[in-house]
Amino acid sequence: MRISVVGCGYLGAVHAACMAKLGHEVVGIDVDERKIAELSAASAPFYEPGLEELLRDVQETGRLSFTTDMSAAAGSEVHFVCVGTPQKKGENGADLTFVDAATAALLPYLQPGNVVVGKSTVPVGTAARLEALVLDREPEAHLVWNPEFLREGHAVADTLRPDRLVYGVASGSEDHAAVTILDEVYASTLSTGTPRLVTDHPTAELVKTAANSFLATKISFINAMAEVCEAAGADVTRLADAIGMDDRIGRKFLHAGIGFGGGCLPKDIRAFMARAGELGADQALTFLREVDAINMRRRTRVVELTRELCGGGLLGKKITVLGAAFKPNSDDVRDSPALSIAAQLQLQGAVVTVTDPKALSNAAKRFPELQYEPDLDAALANSDALLLLTEWQEYRDMDPYATRMAVTTPRILDGRNVLDAGKWRAAGWTYRGLGRP
Ligand code: UGA
Repeated sequence: MRISVVGCGYLGAVHAACMAKLGHEVVGIDVDERKIAELSAASAPFYEPGLEELLRDVQETGRLSFTTDMSAAAGSEVHFVCVGTPQKKGENGADLTFVDAATAALLPYLQPGNVVVGKSTVPVGTAARLEALVLDREPEAHLVWNPEFLREGHAVADTLRPDRLVYGVASGSEDHAAVTILDEVYASTLSTGTPRLVTDHPTAELVKTAANSFLATKISFINAMAEVCEAAGADVTRLADAIGMDDRIGRKFLHAGIGFGGGCLPKDIRAFMARAGELGADQALTFLREVDAINMRRRTRVVELTRELCGGGLLGKKITVLGAAFKPNSDDVRDSPALSIAAQLQLQGAVVTVTDPKALSNAAKRFPELQYEPDLDAALANSDALLLLTEWQEYRDMDPYATRMAVTTPRILDGRNVLDAGKWRAAGWTYRGLGRP
């Protein structure tokens, strides 16, 4: 099939490459010339494991191209809208400027029978509004909401082998013409047994926000338990192991630490609360305010613990922050808890050096006032305290004996609870985890 993908960020670039991998002829369209130039040269504009190999692989087949020219969408049967929906400045709601602009730009190129497929995370009600615009221009076109559940760091695998596919169509019924067309797009994914659910528009939009809200709630739940464990002298990691053995609870997303960040979970729960307020259902989501508050408290707690670890004062203390990305295997620093903690420590008088295998150039753009050191050994040198804030494998693998030689004072705060506390203490370190005795 001929497919256009509008928006080539974390979601769209991966989606375009994966659709070409599935055998379709794909054009990726974005207004950002630099991004398009990089993607055209099979180079990923951001770090995502496996993406560059995939881009090279599919570009050799001639099935994938990129352009800034929207008219390239003409002739495609299916048009995916994959642009960002960031948080509005100074407000909780989602900023739909890019979704609206992308849809408006597509309208002149729609043909009868075409399907516009929204993948961006949007407030419930957006699909119905956009469908009216589409039908006004081309009465025989369709609009489907097809939320995306990929995780950064696993984006290629999650797109090629998703847990489920959700199609939101106006009628909510399987016999909608767009269902057959999307089944053709995802034919090879469906042939491996991936479940596919057809819903109405609002349900499909809500599936995405509900899923991210549930994940955020799970993380904040275990971080709330970490607070109680700290007060009671218990160990939240063992508590999570034990409750996670109950199938109904599960161990995934019960890693207590510095909390969630990134371009999705924080802004999605806020946009969800804002939208529920508009719908008169705000009471239903007041718990998400607490989920957000617990999450933000983690960052303050780490600053306090670092002060304690440094003997009561941060002034002039040399602190090394291991990790800048919001999670490992990503260079994304949007709402990164690691960087927000680093910036707080610096504001309170510490001399902070941040290191990360991939995210330093993005970090420097957001927080130019921090000092960055790409070389791990150089970052460790003369440190008064280490803070492990993003659990990259190389930090998990650090040898406590060798690391001790590099620093001034062997103190470590394990913000992700991934190190073996006994081993680090045995090597002479003052070790602090979160929610652990
Ligand atoms: C999240 C969802 O997991 C995806 O399903 C969704 O498609 C995506 O948002 C999106 O809306 O686009 P992502 O933001 O890539 O994916 O990251 P997650 O793996 O969900 O991690 C989010 C944050 O939670 C990270 O900062 C991570 O370190 C933190 N986290 C995760 C914890 O603190 N504890 C955990 O147990 C798990």
